[in-house]
Amino acid sequence: MHNLIAPSILSADFGNLERDCEMINQSKADWFHIDIMDGVFVPNISFGMPVLKSINSYAKKPLDVHLMITDPDRYIKNFADLNAKILTVHFEACIHLHRTIQEIKINGMKAGVALNPHTPVSVLEPIISDINLVCLMSVNPGFGGQKFIKNTYNKTKELKRLIQTKKSNALIEIDGGVSNKNAKKLFDLGANILVAGNFVFKSEDPKSAISNLKSI
Ligand code: DX5
Ligand code: ZN
Repeated sequence: MHNLIAPSILSADFGNLERDCEMINQSKADWFHIDIMDGVFVPNISFGMPVLKSINSYAKKPLDVHLMITDPDRYIKNFADLNAKILTVHFEACIHLHRTIQEIKINGMKAGVALNPHTPVSVLEPIISDINLVCLMSVNPGFGGQKFIKNTYNKTKELKRLIQTKKSNALIEIDGGVSNKNAKKLFDLGANILVAGNFVFKSEDPKSAISNLKSI
């Protein structure tokens, strides 16, 4: 699986959620990227279950749910019930990461692990074979529209190497500041999924912004 695009709903117009979800349905996007923030793990609160329920009622593509919350174990079942296909937790938020990953899988979802920009790829070495997706944060999580951190290129390369060495099937997702300026390099270095919020939703024609990324 490669070159997937996951527009981030965080940058959508919440007063026109149905319209924006329909735009993604009609576009070349592959997944819906859903950012859940609790105001504790990150300095922002996004939205919770009722909004996700609404998104799920419109979305016709897999829901890729990115939890930026402390103690995510409490809500694994809720997100499974809300139809999350991929559930990504933060390495920095999980004391018993191995158990959390098993719980996500037991609940029928693919397990993702996200790394903050300062967290080295090497922390995943003992667990990479259990993970379905690694999300490399290319901004400090909490807000859309931030500047891409260039060290992500090195981390992508390193992660690709780790995945190959350990014969893991984990997919590489890049999240934050993605645009048509860095997409090609990221795909070339081994990224499988690019998340894009502002680049899609702040463009004049979001559907062609998605096609633009998809065709890279
Ligand atoms: C940041 C979120 C991202 C964000 C990406 O904390 O995890 O998914 O919505 O938005 P852009 O593409 O605008 O950086
Ligand atoms: Zn995200």
